[in-house]
Amino acid sequence: MQGVTIADHPLVQHKLTILRDKDTSTRSFRALLREISVLLCYEVTRDLPLEDVEIETPVARMSGKTIAGKKLVFAPILRAGMGLLDGMLELVPSARVAHIGLYRDPKTLKAVEYYFKAPADIADRLVVVIDPMLATGHTAVAAVDRLKEYGVKQIRFVCVVASPQGIDILRSHHPDVPVWAAAVDEGLDDHAYIVPGLGDAGDRIYGTK
Ligand code: URA
Repeated sequence: MQGVTIADHPLVQHKLTILRDKDTSTRSFRALLREISVLLCYEVTRDLPLEDVEIETPVARMSGKTIAGKKLVFAPILRAGMGLLDGMLELVPSARVAHIGLYRDPKTLKAVEYYFKAPADIADRLVVVIDPMLATGHTAVAAVDRLKEYGVKQIRFVCVVASPQGIDILRSHHPDVPVWAAAVDEGLDDHAYIVPGLGDAGDRIYGTK
């Protein structure tokens, strides 16, 4: 699939299977999601540009590598996206955060915005949008629309489980936004849940069902 990277690392796939299991507790679900987010973060940052820097080790001077450019931004889509944030910040502690509050209207399934708070200079940074589920794609498209209104030019999307429809919608609206996922599932049910999926990610993270 063009523009889609599947994180097929055995650790990701193993953890995802436990995450999907309906008998996995809230506590374990949260911990696993955090662990998966670290591994997804590793994948999505794999090609970040580097620059040379002169340092002195206790033994000799050398030219080392550091990540070039401005600090990146993680943009969790509330509320389920928060389940991926801490693990990503663990790996990239200097990253900035943009919170995007969107919910799915249960009747229309369209995204409705209720909160948006981002770094003032977000337009100059690489933004990684995070949401465990890419289902209908409406929320993802709305989040990317909003970031582009703020002038953001470099956007990546990270999810745990995607549907083929969600990927098609996001990629057709925003072909410049590559997607990272741990799995692409069969499709959506009548309530727009991913099948087989893992259920409602927000409810499973926060134990609200
Ligand atoms: N959101 C979820 O949390 N789960 C789905 O399956 C689809 C959307």
